[in-house]
Formats: sequence, C-alpha cells, structure tokens
Amino acid sequence: MHPSHLLLLAGTTVAQSLQDVLTAQSATLSTLNGWLASEALIFDILNSAQGITILAPSNNALAALYSTTLPTQLALDSNLLTAFLSYHVLDGVFFASDFLNNPVASAPTFLNMQAYSNVSGGQVVQSRSQNGGITFFSGNNVQSNVQAYDFNYVGGTLHIIDTALTIPARITDTLITTGLTACVGALQRAGIEAAVNNAPDITLFVPTNAAFDAIGSILNGMTLEQLTTVLNYHVVRGQVLYSQLIKGGGTVVTAEGAALNFRVVQGALFVNSARVVVTDVLVGNGVVHFIDGVLNPANPTATPDPSAATQAPAFSGANTAAGGVPFTSSIILSTTTTLIPTGPTPTASSGATPPPPVVTAGRPHMYGNYLIRC
Ligand SMILES: *[C@@H]1O[C@H](CO)[C@@H](O)[C@H](O)[C@H]1NC(C)=O
Repeated sequence: MHPSHLLLLAGTTVAQSLQDVLTAQSATLSTLNGWLASEALIFDILNSAQGITILAPSNNALAALYSTTLPTQLALDSNLLTAFLSYHVLDGVFFASDFLNNPVASAPTFLNMQAYSNVSGGQVVQSRSQNGGITFFSGNNVQSNVQAYDFNYVGGTLHIIDTALTIPARITDTLITTGLTACVGALQRAGIEAAVNNAPDITLFVPTNAAFDAIGSILNGMTLEQLTTVLNYHVVRGQVLYSQLIKGGGTVVTAEGAALNFRVVQGALFVNSARVVVTDVLVGNGVVHFIDGVLNPANPTATPDPSAATQAPAFSGANTAAGGVPFTSSIILSTTTTLIPTGPTPTASSGATPPPPVVTAGRPHMYGNYLIRC
C-alpha cells in the first residue's frame, strides 16, 4: 500500500460504506450482496475491516460456480465459504493504479488457514497488467479480469472481477488438472509426492510431459534413487519464487543440494537450459512454473539456445522410449476430496440469479470476529 493512498483516503470524504457500494453496484454485485446478506457474521467482519481490498466476483462469475462442485463442497466443508471469501480479500489497500503500474505482482490475501494454504504470510493472487487491463491469476491458472475498479469506501477499496478466484489446490491435484501428469507419476514413483505436497513455501519447476518423453530412454534406466535426485533438483524449499522475484543471472539452491541458474534471454526466462513456458501457477503451498526440459543435476551448466523453439534435453544421448510418456500409465489419483472448485469461464448469457449457498447455521469460523493478519 502506498502511504499516499492512506492520506488520500483520510483527506477526502469517502463516507461510503461497503453496503453502499454493494447497493450502488447491484446490477453487477447483487448475488454477492445476497451471499453476504445471508452470512451476517462474514458481512460484519468485512464491513468493519480496515485497510483491505475486496475482489468482488460479478453476478456472472458467481452464477458460473453453480455448475461446478462448489455448492456440494460448501455443504460438506463448513469452513470453505470463509476460505473462499477470505481469498477474495487482499491485505492492504491496492488501487487499480498499483496493479497497472506493475506488469506482474503478487498481492497477499487473508486466506491463511492451514487446511487451504501453506504459504507464509497468506496465499496470494498474482496480477498481470497489460494495455491498461488488470488480470488476477489464481489456482489452476484461472484468470479473473477486472471489469470495474476503485470503488473506494471507508474500509478500503473494491474491484469487480468477471471470474471468481480459485483457491490454489495441492501441487499434484493442480498438475493433474493442468495436464502435467508425467511429473505427478514421477513424484509418485519416487515416493516424494506427499513431501512435495505438504512442505510449506515451495517452488517447483515442472517439466512438461513432452520434456519427460524426450528423455524416456534415460529415465527407463534410472534407479529410484537417481530419479529422486533428479526430481529434487526441481524443488526449492522455503522460498516461494514468483516470477517477478526471479532475476536473470540469479541462482537458487534446490532440495537436491545443487543450484539452478536463471537466465533471461530475449525476454524469455530459462532455468539452466530449460525454457519456462508457463509461469506462476499458484498451488496450496507455493508456486509452480512449467518448463520444457527435465533439469539435470549432473549438468548444471547447460545453457539455452534461445533460437530453438524447444530446448535440447540436458541429458546427452537421450531419446524417447517405447511405451508412451514416462510415468503416465499408473498415476494414482488423490483419494482426498478436492476442496477446490474449478469453474468454467462464465458466459455473458448466464441465467437467473442463483440462490445463496447453503451453509449450516452455527458453523465454526476460523477468524473470530475479524480478518487475521499474519
Ligand atoms: C498444509 O500442511 C499441512 C501439514 O503438512 C497439511 O495437512 C495441509 O493439507 C497442507 N495444506 C495445503 C493447502 O496444502
């Protein structure tokens, strides 16, 4: 938050309450207003909180959730509505200009219950700004565009988003949803799936299925110990490295012990010789980036060829092997309930206003009577 914004808020007469904003914007926010009206406690918490930014899902955004598993999950999990709403509240007053002035940024949210987040300081949303537009990225790389912004009120400000945020899921659930199944299979084969899913504050570089396929001949000959060594070379513990924190020329030590080398070449980010093809996919315990090659701890000096569309493998003599993409034939799907709805992109033609979610009376709430800052 910029100190100047505090002064601005203090200096102008922003007498509007949160309810005033919700009422004035009822054409877009009547569903959210209805949800909050049926959740007096949550509304009171939001209404009395100071120094916050609410990312308010539009009517269309909330309507789209009704065709997902969210209503069922809300009925099963008495804390999910609080978690879902907490994720839509940023800890700080962030005006549109704060995002417009940063091509990429992270903003901390109030989602900090351990069942939903193992990110120190609270789970974040990642913002990207281009050509005067602002998009927030949440779990499973779901994108929420800001459709109207800077509805300032006494507690802070509110922006309207066209798609609800998705609470970031566990790493392997996220990778299955996004199709990076070879990495999941490899983590399972090596027996380190739980370790990677449960450690707080992780950064994971995830090779695509094509990257695993390209070195199938080598993977086939590896012992479990060798495979574990290779996989641990993709894991950074104790640091959530969002892309804006990764600088060309920088290095970071991995769980394997050896370091990764970052390069920025012609605007593209590389880890050793692998190109980062998707950045900043948020997960429950940190962030993952997708890369186009499997990293080789025995070859940390591999350098990229920026002119190549796909980088050559960092394992010399590697080839694809018969039998398809390695590790994908025996993936064990999670037996735990996936807590996280993955909603379709809402369409402009979403139908009637859905009813508020069914939430049992007297359910416990993690926050007492206020939003906890951590
Ligand atoms: C956070 O870690 C705890 C303990 O390791 C685990 O039980 C919980 O499921 C984790 N939460 C998330 C969102 O990954």
